[in-house]
Amino acid sequence: MRILLTGKNGQVGWELNRSLSTLGTIFALGRDQIDLAKPETLGSVIQEIKPNIIINAAAYTAVDKAESEPELAMTVNGIAPGVIAEEAKKIGAGMIHYSTDYVFDGKATSPYKEEDAPCPLNIYGKSKLAGDQAVMQANIPHIILRTAWVYSLRGSNFLLTMQKLAQSKNQIKVVDDQIGSPTWSRAIAEGTARILEHCRSTGKSKIFSHSGVFNMSCGGETSWFGFAKKILELSGENTELIPIPTIEYPTPTARPESSLLSNRKLKQVFHHEMPHWQDALLECLNSGHKARNALP
Ligand SMILES: NC(=O)c1ccc[n+]([C@@H]2O[C@H](COP(=O)([O-])OP(=O)(O)OC[C@H]3O[C@@H](n4cnc5c(N)ncnc54)[C@H](OP(=O)(O)O)[C@@H]3O)[C@@H](O)[C@H]2O)c1
Repeated sequence: MRILLTGKNGQVGWELNRSLSTLGTIFALGRDQIDLAKPETLGSVIQEIKPNIIINAAAYTAVDKAESEPELAMTVNGIAPGVIAEEAKKIGAGMIHYSTDYVFDGKATSPYKEEDAPCPLNIYGKSKLAGDQAVMQANIPHIILRTAWVYSLRGSNFLLTMQKLAQSKNQIKVVDDQIGSPTWSRAIAEGTARILEHCRSTGKSKIFSHSGVFNMSCGGETSWFGFAKKILELSGENTELIPIPTIEYPTPTARPESSLLSNRKLKQVFHHEMPHWQDALLECLNSGHKARNALP
């Protein structure tokens, strides 16, 4: 299996490069090799590699900045995935693409299901929704994995921000009225590998016979405050945390109140259960200790 992976240096892309290594030959590309801001250049890269599967982990993820760069966000998140899907169609390739809880308005009182009507609150959410729709419309074998609250030990994310703040502050105020399931990027990569293995084991002709959208976030739920509390506890920090409502932490763009996604379809179709967010967080932090201890 020839796998073309975009966004190799991102939180999810970096873990995918690691988790998928036994499944085939991976062509992992960064922005300098495949630039989604230039959709007209994507075809030649894809046609040269001729992959069986394209995994698009690249995205414009700066949620607040997207409000002032709507065209760039829409090109990278909304247009480029559709171009990639059309190029995949020419060579009979399948596509795995990542989506977000931000396609929803967050007003639901129970975890979002795949078929719930999207209603994005901001440019980032609108651009990601446009990308999902473009991939679906290309009518190729595809799997769109919707996730939320992604963190890892690299890049910029809530886990690293809290650890950094704890080093310099005695007190941190954290929003307590937005809920979700913090999701380790490695859990997403391992879930993706599991889907590919499942497709492979059911026969080549059935690859992606389950085309469509699947939610994929860690299990359980908490608020940003609850997530911060667990991070500091597991990191051995005793900085004081103060819960605050969203209204006291204004950002340039609105965010969903509830980012909870139901993983039921993922479990039913691919028999894959995502880890509980607390277990994944512990494992993530332990992986960092192990990596540090392994240094000469
Ligand atoms: N982060 C979250 O909380 C979250 C939540 C829900 C869904 N998602 C989705 O999950 C997927 C993976 O996100 P992530 O957390 O891994 O994001 P990330 O860490 O920000 O990584 C995104 C990657 O995309 C690359 N990229 C940005 N613009 C590009 C361009 N024009 N051409 C090529 N590559 C470009 C970046 O390259 P550079 O390294 O060069 O900057 C980076 O490697 C995305 O589809 C995202 O929308 C993320």
